[in-house]
Amino acid sequence: MSTPARVAGEAAVGEVLVTAEDLQRRVAELGEEISRDYAGRSLLLVGVLKGAVFFLSDLMRFIDIPVEVDFMAVASYGSATDSSGVVRILKDLDAAIEDRDVLIVEDIVDSGLTLQYLLRNLGSRNPRTLEVCALLTKPERRKVDLPTRYVGFEIPDRFVVGYGLDYAERHRNLPFVAALES
Ligand code: IMP
Ligand code: MG
Repeated sequence: MSTPARVAGEAAVGEVLVTAEDLQRRVAELGEEISRDYAGRSLLLVGVLKGAVFFLSDLMRFIDIPVEVDFMAVASYGSATDSSGVVRILKDLDAAIEDRDVLIVEDIVDSGLTLQYLLRNLGSRNPRTLEVCALLTKPERRKVDLPTRYVGFEIPDRFVVGYGLDYAERHRNLPFVAALES
């Protein structure tokens, strides 16, 4: 069977850009900041499968206001490392978000095209508020300007894996974020 995962086996995990300790510290800070900002309200986290699952589950444990979670899965047409902005919904939310305070939780904002689509799509469902929390952002790669209220780390223009981020479904399980060497 010829799967992309076999091709990924040829790419090596290189320099660590964000250590496990830095991830845990920053995720805790973000959780506390979000809890303060949404105090007195209840929050719906919308995780974008699959990459954000790891970040979201850690983040949620540092949120001490009432919080619920739902997931969306989207596929962006494009190559292994570049999204096209043409997005297809693979799995939609389980429940309506009208009048809810919604926080989209993303692993990484690269071109921003996937997030732009999600903001438009979820925005059209009339949530009370709609914001974004992204673990990583690559400012040099941005094609569209987007409101990202919470950001974990800005990283340089390198393809990264670990802590949920994959290359052809591999390396999500690394406890740190590292550059991929081709
Ligand atoms: P965008 O639409 O170009 O912003 O791409 C967003 C999606 O592409 C992310 O949710 C990731 O799934 C994927 N992606 C972008 N950059 C990387 C990376 O460096 N490593 C792994 N996945 C990435
Ligand atoms: Mg991906």
